[in-house]
Amino acid sequence: MKTVEIKPDIYWVGAIDWGVRDFHGYITPNGTTYNNYLILDRDITLVDTVKHDFSEITIDNIQSLIDPAQIKNIVINHIEPDHVSSIDKIMDLTPNAMIYITDKGKKGLDRYFDTTKWNFTIVKTGHTLSTGKYTLQFLETPMLHWPDSMMTYVKEAKLLISQDAFGQHLATASRFDDEFCECASHAELDESVVDYYANILMPFGQLIKNKVAEVQKLGLDFDMIAPDHGVIWRNDPGRVVRNYLDMADGKTGLRVAIIYDTMWHSTEHMTIPIMQGIKAEGLDCKVIKLRATPMSVAIKEFWKSRGCLVGTPTLNNIMFPSVAEYLTHLRGLRPKNRIAGAFGSFGWGGGAVKEAYEEFKRMGLEIVEPGVQVNYRPSANDDTACFEFGKAFAQKVKEYHTKF
Ligand code: FEO
Repeated sequence: MKTVEIKPDIYWVGAIDWGVRDFHGYITPNGTTYNNYLILDRDITLVDTVKHDFSEITIDNIQSLIDPAQIKNIVINHIEPDHVSSIDKIMDLTPNAMIYITDKGKKGLDRYFDTTKWNFTIVKTGHTLSTGKYTLQFLETPMLHWPDSMMTYVKEAKLLISQDAFGQHLATASRFDDEFCECASHAELDESVVDYYANILMPFGQLIKNKVAEVQKLGLDFDMIAPDHGVIWRNDPGRVVRNYLDMADGKTGLRVAIIYDTMWHSTEHMTIPIMQGIKAEGLDCKVIKLRATPMSVAIKEFWKSRGCLVGTPTLNNIMFPSVAEYLTHLRGLRPKNRIAGAFGSFGWGGGAVKEAYEEFKRMGLEIVEPGVQVNYRPSANDDTACFEFGKAFAQKVKEYHTKF
């Protein structure tokens, strides 16, 4: 793999993972990259490592530029294994290097590796490291998205190495946003950003706003954002920052996602008149069957829509398992600024729709009750009730949307 100079004497030395499709349960149909960066300065500095499967690749990349024994400093912005699990291989080659890491990062790293022989400098926001012509400034970003997380700003290069933030799970021949958009489109790139945000950063909107405000207050002037996944933002780094702030502020599409599963097609049948009711109110509607769709896609579609209707049959008096799994996953992401409702079918006893509403209440979402339910098989009257429910729900979505 060829390295790529992203700024004078600063090189991308990472790895492309074309094949990964399941990233700790998050489905990645486009693969991903593990980006890390080598600064060739008076004191050679490596910022981040890669997932262990790719350690030979990043080492080859580094060796194409320098002898790894020359690396004097290693910055670890984040200790999740996709970024840190090859550090032992790097340390074997440069055992006296100084590792710059947050306090929580060090404590976590101690759990993954025998670090007793490694050298550490614990850093906090505002601490700096001069590598010669470049000054690295550290910025703690706790819970964006792990407690240890931080970013590294390279002042003279106007470069923000942002770790997971502003990343995308995209394995591509393009290393930069403008290259990607030449071959694909801005829409495709934006979709990858939304996908990543929805599945990883959804709980942290307020933290994101606070951190962007802190970056502005610190006066960090950057013209490039280099995340640890996906393409590097050099053409318009402000675009992804604005995109993040919009999402953190609750901006989303005036549309409805219907997320459902079905046993004998009764709940599935209900999606049609409900969807038609929503369309009759002039809103777009995306319908997702859970067992036919990766969880991360169903989460993303929720996030892209102001309103969400969940359809579930009752099985043994409770929600259908795939729907329960979905709502549990969603609750963990602490969704905000969305309005929800439920519908479903039952045989001899209901319970699922009520349970779905209880789950929405636990999440603190705005809800439209009581939803709609049918016994066994939808009749023509049930179809009418579903259509009216779709219409009523869409009206509430439009009303709620005006708050944002
Ligand atoms: Fe890409 Fe939080 O790891």
